[in-house]
Amino acid sequence: MRSAVQVRRVRPDEGLRLRAIRLRALAEAPAAFGWTHAEALGQPQEFWDGVCREHAAGAAYTMFVAEEGETWYGMARGFVHRDYPSIVRLASMWVDPARRRGGVGAALVEAVTAWARERSASCVQLWVTDTNRAAKALYARQGFAETGRTKPHPSDPGLREALMVRMLPR
Ligand SMILES: CC(C)(COP(=O)(O)OP(=O)(O)OC[C@H]1O[C@@H](n2cnc3c(N)ncnc32)[C@H](O)[C@@H]1OP(=O)(O)O)[C@@H](O)C(=O)NCCC(=O)NCCS
Repeated sequence: MRSAVQVRRVRPDEGLRLRAIRLRALAEAPAAFGWTHAEALGQPQEFWDGVCREHAAGAAYTMFVAEEGETWYGMARGFVHRDYPSIVRLASMWVDPARRRGGVGAALVEAVTAWARERSASCVQLWVTDTNRAAKALYARQGFAETGRTKPHPSDPGLREALMVRMLPR
């Protein structure tokens, strides 16, 4: 039986933990993200502390983590589209390989979607690497559809990203 997934928003003083999980994710699944491990590693701790405070405040950005005891084993970020404030974007989705296929990814998608609904967003959008079958299957199962829009992957020009959307009817 699957144990309940504990998902919560990051707190303002968790910049060190945020940095650690983002670096783990970038090392483990480099093609899944829009920046590189080296770029992330080059950021000073003040950067992570600032990002963490913004995410915890939850105004235009949020970060949810899956947690057990002291261990973070998954994350997903939500942010309001800079030009279209009724659109929420989901990004930085990652689950520790040892915890995959246990419903953690789905719980994180639902946490960001609930945050979007609280903000009366019209939809949640995300970019997913075209070859990422696991992520595409997860998003399709959670109600996302492909839009047909694609763009080159920001850190690997050999790959393309596809835009998926989940409408949030009022
Ligand atoms: C994609 C990812 C977040 C999925 O997390 P997860 O915790 O394993 O997902 P869940 O257990 O909630 O899966 C929910 C459903 O998604 C689908 N799914 C998830 N992984 C799948 C896989 N490898 N193959 C096929 N379907 C998959 C299934 O329908 C699954 O339901 P089921 O297990 O009952 O069949 C995880 O594989 C991951 O972190 N990958 C590396 C980083 C990444 O690709 N991030 C996405 C960036 S856009």
